[in-house]
Amino acid sequence: MEQTGIKTDIGKIREQFPVLRQEVNGKKLIYFDNAATTQKPLSVINALTDYYRHYNANIHRGVHALAERATAAYENTRKLIGEFINATDTEEVIFTSGTTAGINLVASAWGRKFLQKDDEVIISEMEHHSNIVPWQMICEEKGARLMVIPVDNKGELVMSEYEKMLGDRTRMVAVTHISNALGTINPVEEIVAKAREAGAVTLLDGAQATAHVDIDVQALGCDFYAFSAHKLFGPTGVGILYGKRAILEAMNPWQGGGEMIEEVTFEKTTYNEIPYKFEAGTPNIADVIAFGEAVRFLNGIGGKKELLSHERELLQKATEGLKAIDGVKIIGEAHEKIGVLSFVVDGMHHFDIGMLLDARGIAVRTGHHCTQPLMRRYGIEGTVRASFSIYNTTEEVEFFIESLKQIIAKWR
Ligand code: ALA
Repeated sequence: MEQTGIKTDIGKIREQFPVLRQEVNGKKLIYFDNAATTQKPLSVINALTDYYRHYNANIHRGVHALAERATAAYENTRKLIGEFINATDTEEVIFTSGTTAGINLVASAWGRKFLQKDDEVIISEMEHHSNIVPWQMICEEKGARLMVIPVDNKGELVMSEYEKMLGDRTRMVAVTHISNALGTINPVEEIVAKAREAGAVTLLDGAQATAHVDIDVQALGCDFYAFSAHKLFGPTGVGILYGKRAILEAMNPWQGGGEMIEEVTFEKTTYNEIPYKFEAGTPNIADVIAFGEAVRFLNGIGGKKELLSHERELLQKATEGLKAIDGVKIIGEAHEKIGVLSFVVDGMHHFDIGMLLDARGIAVRTGHHCTQPLMRRYGIEGTVRASFSIYNTTEEVEFFIESLKQIIAKWR
């Protein structure tokens, strides 16, 4: 059968990732830790060195040639990302240091202005700590209540419980688009629509979603959407917060400093327009520019539908393989999933499994994945998590399953 798209090009795709061409512990590297961070293609790596070699300059402030070139490249990424997520205006894209900063920005700047005593903020049991702790902090400060949508045994949100929670006091619904620990794709359109009916503002944590599914913030209808570059083949330390223009304009700035001002006197400061109002200080210029290359790379590999179908093929193969091994239990079997496979093994600690896999060149993540309440929900301390991306192959999955069988047979 003739193969198309990513499958035909997987060798070519791998060629663009120099880090994959190495041995670890004397074995060919198999990188299955993509939910923690993806590897970077040459175009992204080159964009970083190109900036520092040829046009390093601060942006927005200079009139010289290098400053203009750097500013154009930086703003070009903003435009590209606006299109990537289908924002109405480019100005609705705010550069941050990553998803965590985006959520903290909203919890602090929006929460401080709009939350009051006895208001309610809804999150879910499968949230990453970065979509729990900022809300706990602002709820404590304002005397608001944090409500938690439960997760069922399969790893899906219990929507009937969510509906019961919505009410007159609901001000914010902040949930993850896709779970980093379970791989569950949440019904975010429905979650947002119900929140809007209740008059609440919505934030989606898109950290795990943007590299796997198409993002259309207008179709989703959310007020805020946050994600990081490094989970979608871009550099670490940079991300974006999307916010609807009206709500961003109604908010006060988060941090004060250069760039975010219109005029400063000792008596009073007036603030810049969005997005600059939320971008105090010299930003991460090189990484923003390289982030643009990551988006171009993703746009260039044939669309996310195909990408997701490749990952799902790997997921299915790996899931079947794991289920056939005695003592292995998969954590997270939602109907809609990306290529994230969390599991535990009876009688073995997840760290030991991770180290034994590493000895065979296989990189997986072990631990609580910054989701301690979720781990508690399943009565476990942590899992082993394999997460797949476009450069992973069925041969790698086969080697992983075979290795795991041998490890369990020998050490359990
Ligand atoms: N949040 C990242 C993960 O899930 C680090 O691994």
